[in-house]
Amino acid sequence: MKNAHPGFLVILAFSLPLPLMAANIENGAELHFDDCTGCHQEEVYTRENRVVGSLQRLSRQVRFCKDAVGAQWFDDDVEDVIAYLNQAYYRFE
Ligand code: HEC
Repeated sequence: MKNAHPGFLVILAFSLPLPLMAANIENGAELHFDDCTGCHQEEVYTRENRVVGSLQRLSRQVRFCKDAVGAQWFDDDVEDVIAYLNQAYYRFE
């Protein structure tokens, strides 16, 4: 690869999968809007006696509700929705 253009390395770097790819919050918000507002509105996340008290609990609840509504999401989608809800409402560390 003696004659490889230096730009080649840049392209290579950007085409590698990012192992620590951040959750896509926009995707999470869209999925949530499409699939999650049938039974409860977003007030359920901010009500005083909300049931979710940790990130782990949030993850369980999102999966539970996803299965209840029968949404066909990939694991990444679930993570995106969790990240969206956490950023918008719960704010767990
Ligand atoms: C089939 C009806 C239904 C759908 C659709 C639904 N949920 Fe729920 N969700 C519930 C019920 C019931 C509760 C519990 C409400 C309560 O305790 O009063 C709940 C509660 C929650 C909570 C906990 C709120 C709290 O108290 O902190 C989260 C988070 C949540 N849902 C996320 C989602 C997400 C994400 C989706 C989309 C996949 C979704 N829900 C779609 C029925 C549903």
